[in-house]
Amino acid sequence: MSSQPCLQDIGPVICVVGARPNFMKMAPLLRAFAAHQPRIPTLLVHTGQHYDKDMNDRLFEDLQLPKPDINLGVGSGSHTLQTAEVMRHFEPVVDEYKPSCVLVVGDVNSTLACSLVAAKKGIRVVHIEAGLRSYDRAMPEEINRVLTDQMADRLYTTERSALGNLVREGIAADRVSFVGNVMIDSLLHNRSMARPVAQTLAEAGLPTDLLANADGYAVVTLHRPSNVDQLATLQPLLKVLRDVSERLPLAFAMHPRTRANIERFHLMELVRSPRIALLPPQGYLEMLGLMAGAKLVLTDSGGLQEETTALGVPCLTLRENTERPITIEQGSNTLVGVDTKVIVQHVEEVLLSGGKSGRVPELWDGKAAERIADDLARWLLAPAQS
Ligand code: UD1
Repeated sequence: MSSQPCLQDIGPVICVVGARPNFMKMAPLLRAFAAHQPRIPTLLVHTGQHYDKDMNDRLFEDLQLPKPDINLGVGSGSHTLQTAEVMRHFEPVVDEYKPSCVLVVGDVNSTLACSLVAAKKGIRVVHIEAGLRSYDRAMPEEINRVLTDQMADRLYTTERSALGNLVREGIAADRVSFVGNVMIDSLLHNRSMARPVAQTLAEAGLPTDLLANADGYAVVTLHRPSNVDQLATLQPLLKVLRDVSERLPLAFAMHPRTRANIERFHLMELVRSPRIALLPPQGYLEMLGLMAGAKLVLTDSGGLQEETTALGVPCLTLRENTERPITIEQGSNTLVGVDTKVIVQHVEEVLLSGGKSGRVPELWDGKAAERIADDLARWLLAPAQS
């Protein structure tokens, strides 16, 4: 009689994280894999793409992520160099641990690099947050999304539109499963532990009542290369933020790329104001507290578009496109681009009418990771298909 394989007999699921937006997606997955009966064996690999205390350590603490089993220590560099270095360091890990699959999340350079190593070695790739498309190939993440999905053997999606995108690219629909949004699993899990705004300001050495305005306050994040790498785009954006701050005080959590460019272009004076709380990159619980209490969020981040939709807080996205259309169709998000007049007009509208609150999309219910664990366990044990 041939015995059935069981999860403990197969190699671990190598779970890859690299950059900040990966951490909140991986935390609920690791919890669900550990809780699954039987447990799904994992090996947590950190590529080291993000390494600062602000960009990395605080998020690991807040999200109660376990210390990575392996850190590849790759760090910053050009996209080519960073991708190549992750690949070079990841290959020996795959050789040593003989994983049953490599599981990647999101769309950062580490996502693509580790998928490529696995695919080249005939190891199955699992992609969480598959099928999102901005249809803007100038965006580095778009290249990472398209290529990772092409290599993936099992694809989990956050919204139904993703399946159409994948099928149009020739990916078989039976590889794809709509499970909901692990990022929202994290949000719901941590919602009650969100840090009070006054405490966040105090920790940054700012007056605790800086954002206590009768009309509320807005949260700002900016870090897309297309918005912050050129003076011609960054300067007008900062000017409009300054104008907005006259109406609503701002909490501006500054990504290191953005801060470096503001300093390089000598633009710091534009954002130095008693009505702008200049903050370093925030921990997860601080950001959650800031967003949950905000009148409005202005951002170019993908994650914040989803988190504001889950919180019902109006979000103005300072981009021409989004790979997360459900946040616009159903959620609280509005695409406003980078035209300063349009941005101001939308801010005024939020002040007048309260803005869009939207509704929470299907399956953004805090249980996406559990659905993935159940499906993955079945899939790992199923006879391999060509
Ligand atoms: C990366 C992701 C982006 C994600 C963002 C969140 C890619 C292509 N981009 O962009 O999708 O939204 O993370 O932050 O993978 N730096 C530090 N400390 C760190 C990490 C980076 O100071 O811990 C600085 C370095 O100067 C570095 C720059 O930030 O050169 C950019 O870092 P990088 O990882 O290349 O890309 P991000 O802009 O963070």
